[in-house]
Amino acid sequence: MIGVLPGELAGMIIGVNHQQVAWPPSLRAQPRQQKTDLPDATAQLEQSTRRRLISKIGRPHCLSHRPGARLQDVLIEADRQAAESHGLHRHLCCIARHATPVMTFVRRCDGYSMIVPFAARRGVAMLLPRPRGELSDLVVSGIRDPQSVAECGALPLPADALNDVDLQLSLWLLYELHYRSFDDADPAADWSPALLSVRRVLEEAFNDGVEDVSAKHVAPLIDVEPDDFPDRLFELVETFPGPSLAEYVQRRADRDQVREMLLHRSVYHLKEADPHSFAIPRLTGAAKAGLVELQYDEYGDGVADRVHQDLFARALRAAGLDAEYGSYADVVPAEVLAISNVMSLYGLHRARRAAAMGHLAAFEASSSVPCRRYAAGIRRVGLGDEVAQYFDEHVEADAVHEQLAVRRICGALIAEDPRLQRDVAVGAVACLALDARAAAPLLEAWKHDRHLVLPPTETAHLDRAVPAS
Ligand SMILES: [Fe+2]
Ligand SMILES: [Fe+2]
Repeated sequence: MIGVLPGELAGMIIGVNHQQVAWPPSLRAQPRQQKTDLPDATAQLEQSTRRRLISKIGRPHCLSHRPGARLQDVLIEADRQAAESHGLHRHLCCIARHATPVMTFVRRCDGYSMIVPFAARRGVAMLLPRPRGELSDLVVSGIRDPQSVAECGALPLPADALNDVDLQLSLWLLYELHYRSFDDADPAADWSPALLSVRRVLEEAFNDGVEDVSAKHVAPLIDVEPDDFPDRLFELVETFPGPSLAEYVQRRADRDQVREMLLHRSVYHLKEADPHSFAIPRLTGAAKAGLVELQYDEYGDGVADRVHQDLFARALRAAGLDAEYGSYADVVPAEVLAISNVMSLYGLHRARRAAAMGHLAAFEASSSVPCRRYAAGIRRVGLGDEVAQYFDEHVEADAVHEQLAVRRICGALIAEDPRLQRDVAVGAVACLALDARAAAPLLEAWKHDRHLVLPPTETAHLDRAVPAS
């Protein structure tokens, strides 16, 4: 299957240790593929890849040519062998996904290669990101090779779990094993007892942090009569303290600030609705029926083009951003990862199903009006309808979803078992509190003409975004 790239490019990129790799017969002696046969996107990307590799790694001196390798093979190989330590990991992975190969390979931590159908990679998988500290370094290694992780001993836990990007990325990595996982993860990593014990320690610290910031708003909701709970929850959403990111985007944000907002939100919205779906088999009766009705809408009412995750991906692409799942997880602040992590925390624990539904209720109830503002801001800075479409969709959809989530789902849950009212309240407040915590530093940065994450230029959306501090 290996077509051949023009020799100079292939010779420049391919790593030196390939003679150790046992190549399956199917990868040998394939017809040559001319550069002009490659898709336009790939042809353009070659140039930036060449420049980056030359500047970071140096011309072929640490690289050698494997005759017959294809562009996408080369890129993945470069990713694993050389580029990872130079920050090109995500960039190269993205490039590989813009090519149109049938098959490709990735190197594993044991030094061998494996063949992966490329079609299976497109838009559904990703490579492990760069660690962002001691904890995530341990977790990344453990996900590649769970056998290497000892049963959880003392972990280097930070004092403030909510604000620690290393802990938040570690949790995000461990949770992602239960969503789409990573191409270079051990396939059994999601149920590794050692990794689960690490996750347990991290999420206890995280949960304590969430409870601390939520406590004062939870108490009044617990004392409410069950029949009054939905109205009190709507009131809380209306009055919850914190800056309004949506209002700023509507009236004042510039084009790159709007793009940064999209970049931050990509961590959750590219898997929108998935965390709450974990609760479906854990509910019964009216709550279950209501949740399935809501999720059916989130997943496009049976139409692939209308899946909300994909609407968001289209918005990212139209804004010149990377729409690959998880692309920005290794650059966004801890507060953004926490927003995603809290949904996984509730979704993946059956005992927290009421918190998951409380979270969903607050999420939906705080969406419709802000989405109208976001859409207006997007059009004001000239990003256009294709970017705004995701938000347009949610103005109407979430006006329906909030009633469904607050009254039907949470109302039914509490009516069925009043003991769940506390956890519904905990989940709802956690949603609002973590959103407010993420908005505050972003707005503060914008007001001082700074970014928390510098979005890539619109004409080179595969360049890496970098933390701006
Ligand atoms: Fe949605
Ligand atoms: Fe919704």
